[in-house]
Amino acid sequence: MQRILAAAGREIVVVIVGPGAIGCLFAALLAEKGLAVALLDKNPERSLLLSREGIRVKDSAGERLVHVPCEADPFRLSPPAFLCLCIKSFDTEAAMRHALPLLGAQTVIVSLQNGLGNAEIAARLSAGRPILCAATSHGSTAECAGVVRHAGAGPTIIAPHTAAADYHARAFADMLMNAGIESHVTPDAATLLWSKAAINAAINPVTAIADVPNGAILEREDLRMQAEEAALETERVARAMGINLIYDNTLEAVQNVCRNTASNFSSMLQDIRRGRRTEIEAINGEVVRHGRRLGIPVPVNEELLHRVLEISADRR
Ligand code: PAF
Repeated sequence: MQRILAAAGREIVVVIVGPGAIGCLFAALLAEKGLAVALLDKNPERSLLLSREGIRVKDSAGERLVHVPCEADPFRLSPPAFLCLCIKSFDTEAAMRHALPLLGAQTVIVSLQNGLGNAEIAARLSAGRPILCAATSHGSTAECAGVVRHAGAGPTIIAPHTAAADYHARAFADMLMNAGIESHVTPDAATLLWSKAAINAAINPVTAIADVPNGAILEREDLRMQAEEAALETERVARAMGINLIYDNTLEAVQNVCRNTASNFSSMLQDIRRGRRTEIEAINGEVVRHGRRLGIPVPVNEELLHRVLEISADRR
């Protein structure tokens, strides 16, 4: 079967798996800077639509259209240098299995996802290939298939998950920087993932339950206190596992993300509104699981976990 190239005469450098809010945003930002990027989508109808219509990015400067090839059949793409997972944590295993034909001997896998445990699944299925973890503070909302609202920029931090992946982490960060996406490398993936989990455990369920944009956490005392306590519990659990978060001050870090993405609807709220499964188990659920295991009380995370599961069950 003939494999397509991302652009005439060029091998694909990045395949982004999952055309959701972050997947479409990153694909568009990279393609705009001339990088050979393609999207892999499990949904054939949507992938045809995206290839035909392109990705529409809306931000404070206006609106623009970026064309990115999108495929549902992995055999129609050539193996990329980086396979970047931008899917929900509960889809990681299925998406990795779908993408397996795309993995070349040199392909590096990047988990640019919320939640804990994704890199472990990717590592189990990728036969020793290098794995990176990445966390981004970009706020992006999918208004509908291929239409994203870019509500705020922030740094993207990358860490090697597997041994000897430092070189690849730097190469991935350089590639993002060349495309205007602020990126840094940090040496420890566990630190990175738990730091991101603290932000998500605070912002995502609180905004999802209250049905408000991220900025409301700074305006409403009740929401701010709940979000801050969820972040502090997460920090305590991480510390008990020997993991120090990257922030000098975790509460300030939560507030900064709320400020930088004030008009953004968190990914969990977007899922609730669309009646889709949320990532609550991979975020607050993991904090609760480890908290119980280590004997650290995490009552706010427990409450948020149960409330989001209830709301999500009602909506679905
Ligand atoms: O999941 C999300 O929505 C994002 O990770 C973040 C940073 C909380 C912004 O909305």
